[in-house]
Amino acid sequence: MAPNEGYDAAVARWRKDPDAYWLEAARGLDWSRAPSRAFDGSMGLFGRWFPDGVLNTCHNALDRHVAAGRGAQTAIIYDSPVTGTIRRFSYAEMLDRVSRLAGALAARGVAKGDRVLLYMPMVPEAAIAMLACARLGAIHSVVFGGFAAAEVAARIDDATPKAIISASCGIEPGRIVAYKPLLDAAIGMAAHKPDFCFILQREAQRCDLVAGRDVDYAEAEAAGAPHPCVDVAATDPLYILYTSGTTGKPKGIVRDHGGHAVVLHASMRMIYGLGAGDVFWTASDVGWVVGHSYIVYAPLLAGCTSVLFEGKPVGTPDAGTFWRVCAEHGVRVLFTAPTAIRAIRKEDPEGALIRKYDLSKLEALYLAGERCDPPTAIWSAEKLGVPVVDHWWQTETGWPITAGFRGFGLFEPRPGSGGKPTPGYDLRALDAEGHEVPRGTQGALVLKLPLPPGCAPTLWNAEQRYREAYLSTFPGYYDTSDAGMVDEEGFAWVMGRTDDIINVAGHRLSTGAIEEVLAAHPDVAECAVVGMADALKGQAPLGLVVLKAGARREEAELARELVALVRERIGPVAAFKEARVVARLPKTRSGKILRGTIRKIADGERYSVPPTIDDPLILEEIAGVLAG
Ligand code: COA
Ligand code: AMP
Repeated sequence: MAPNEGYDAAVARWRKDPDAYWLEAARGLDWSRAPSRAFDGSMGLFGRWFPDGVLNTCHNALDRHVAAGRGAQTAIIYDSPVTGTIRRFSYAEMLDRVSRLAGALAARGVAKGDRVLLYMPMVPEAAIAMLACARLGAIHSVVFGGFAAAEVAARIDDATPKAIISASCGIEPGRIVAYKPLLDAAIGMAAHKPDFCFILQREAQRCDLVAGRDVDYAEAEAAGAPHPCVDVAATDPLYILYTSGTTGKPKGIVRDHGGHAVVLHASMRMIYGLGAGDVFWTASDVGWVVGHSYIVYAPLLAGCTSVLFEGKPVGTPDAGTFWRVCAEHGVRVLFTAPTAIRAIRKEDPEGALIRKYDLSKLEALYLAGERCDPPTAIWSAEKLGVPVVDHWWQTETGWPITAGFRGFGLFEPRPGSGGKPTPGYDLRALDAEGHEVPRGTQGALVLKLPLPPGCAPTLWNAEQRYREAYLSTFPGYYDTSDAGMVDEEGFAWVMGRTDDIINVAGHRLSTGAIEEVLAAHPDVAECAVVGMADALKGQAPLGLVVLKAGARREEAELARELVALVRERIGPVAAFKEARVVARLPKTRSGKILRGTIRKIADGERYSVPPTIDDPLILEEIAGVLAG
């Protein structure tokens, strides 16, 4: 971003000479070997960024700031209402801890290119472990704590980690989640076994360690000899993050070092308007891409102070927690999911708790993870008195596709829009034949290739799946699988997914994965899962099941079993609470289940009877069951 540059000027500068634009952005970082060119279109699926650059992401996130004399500045504020803890970690302290943990991992054989799986609650050690891997050039893969053992096992088998870093427990409001038994079960189920595990013992609930495999995290870190940064190619993988695909098998999104560091660093000033020393709080979880990018990497690359919050928007202890954290730590920009705001609004509709705190430092609220409904955006702006900025992105892109840009001067508020494309993204809306639709018309939202730096260059062990999932529908474009439009003024309006992915409380879930679990129940012949509208979580999964011939089951009891099965196989995060028994499922004559029509019936929307349906009466039957 050039000084005083506006949005249109930045877009024009990028379009005129993308290589010069990105090489300029790359100069914001330290490189062991600076890239001589920005892009090589002959590499990978659609080209690779900074092909001859060499750097280390951890050096740029920590060492660089300490070397510049800012070691005493706070890097991370750990605020944990669930344990009653607030702790500040300076850049110097983070550097010391990260380099020791890197040393402890290296002493046990972890080296550049090895995978390390992290299954951690929201504790500072999660960020320390991510950065320690980055320091070694090892590839981390963080698994969200709300996933069950089978999901962890699937990730262990795909990533084949040399080591696992985990904790004895996580803390959810009103219950302790024992991570260690889940981890032990996952390792038991997986064909691949890690060489060793570091286990963080937490006071809330300690756990037994497996002799010969488990090592106490704190002891290992304390005894580790500080390890220097290992040079990696900009195109080497920094992490794998698994996300839901349309089948039960998750996709391992690969992020590379160089492009990721360049765009995240640049995004802090351009999108959020923040620089070194500013306090930024992303209320999400390190298990999601939002947490990777905006709790850990981007704020530290930019020298900010990042708040790492272990709690919920409500219930820890009340709907004023977010405002207490903002006031207490002088947060300038807060980033969260609309669901969190809806949860707060439900408990404090008048915003009385907002007025209890001094929010004079708060300058903006950013929202992402799901479409922000206009009432939520309007309520937040009114009650907080700051601009509310919705921005749209995906695990695959790693940073916002569209946004409002504090660095360029914010656009006028347009509740319901995700803003304009970030320079670097060439956003288009296409019809089913792949032709661009006129501005203001709905279409498939796609990005003209190449994708900008930072976006996933491939899927772990699954290059062909990347090609099929993202590049094959519209040749020359990356298919976001979101539908929406770009209006006359260039604002994007993202309406929802075109595939079988649903968004529950900002968490991305595959209906296919839930269907696989329901179908495994001995009494279920076939099933369909759809995302029905939910006032708090945006969407909630609804399962319709058809019983096997001869199975006589009481519906409520079967539903309880199915709910328990999804919780056991996928985890509590699936938030699967409702299953109904139906006699038949509506299908096209070719046998495709009409999930879109089921969803409309569940939401009480008007639906048209699809001409290809084999038996229209089924729709009335389903409406009757759901109404009953
Ligand atoms: N470890 C273990 N379990 C977890 C977990 C974790 N890290 N995170 C969530 N869970 C559990 C919850 O305890 C809950 O279990 P339950 O069924 O026993 O109650 C279940 O998973 C569903 O969680 P969630 O969908 O988050 O619902 P909730 O009722 O606990 O909380 C909100 C509702 C709105 C407060 C919560 O969803 C929230 O804070 N959302 C913000 C979303 C967000 O940050 N998204 C990230 C993308 S930006
Ligand atoms: P995830 O990969 O978990 O970040 O989920 C990405 C998906 O969430 C996107 O493809 C969208 O469907 C949805 N999403 C995320 N942010 C937004 C937003 N600001 N507006 C609309 N949809 C969003």
